[in-house]
Amino acid sequence: METTENKQENSFTMPRIGDKAPEFKAITTQGEINFPSDYKGKWVILFSHPADFTPVCTSEFMTFAHLEEKFDKANCKLVGLSVDGLYSHIAWLRTIKDKIKFNGMENIEVKFPLIEDITMEVAKKYGMIQPGEHKTQAVRAVFFVDPEGIVRALIYYPLSLGRNFDEIYRALIAMQTSDKFNVATPADWEPGKDVIISPAGSCGVAEERMTSTEDLKCEDWFFCTKPLDKDLVLKEIIKN
Ligand code: BEZ
Repeated sequence: METTENKQENSFTMPRIGDKAPEFKAITTQGEINFPSDYKGKWVILFSHPADFTPVCTSEFMTFAHLEEKFDKANCKLVGLSVDGLYSHIAWLRTIKDKIKFNGMENIEVKFPLIEDITMEVAKKYGMIQPGEHKTQAVRAVFFVDPEGIVRALIYYPLSLGRNFDEIYRALIAMQTSDKFNVATPADWEPGKDVIISPAGSCGVAEERMTSTEDLKCEDWFFCTKPLDKDLVLKEIIKN
């Protein structure tokens, strides 16, 4: 029978796109963090993994650590989490550096913080524990939090499926491009490809769009694209 007590124990929340990122204080492999206030002015990718010393997670951590500088140049910090303790995290990260080779990578040092969350306090706040998949291990969640501390996108993968880091980076750059240039990005967009301008909000604007001599390409009044120079996107978004 479900009692109030075990209802509370099993309860978990799930931040949605547009919500303020739930606040927490946590111990990590890089010291204590206050989230999201320590990251004001930066994008953050907060991601969870099921457990230390597991192969898919190891491949993901090596890939993220390898790409950390690339994310940093896009003003984005990485923060990992699993429902393991600090000493397990430290031992696992040391083992990765000392022993593991994957996809041409070796001697990989994970320098971004990895949160210890034995109590599952943070994992539950972020809906990272999905009991149908596993009762005590976090699924592979990725939260994109913007410089104002707002959740802008989330991706969830099951335990057995390693994430695609090109897609995580592409999504970050696409959201920053949308913010900077007030455009939307179509399927499979990447810098250099045409962007979508916001739909016409009136009959007059719809007509103007269809007859415009500007650099617009309208398939129909509701579907207009324009070029956006790759170098301009990169200059605005990527620090060298
Ligand atoms: C892994 O990271 O290899 C893994 C973790 C939990 C379940 C299945 C795979």
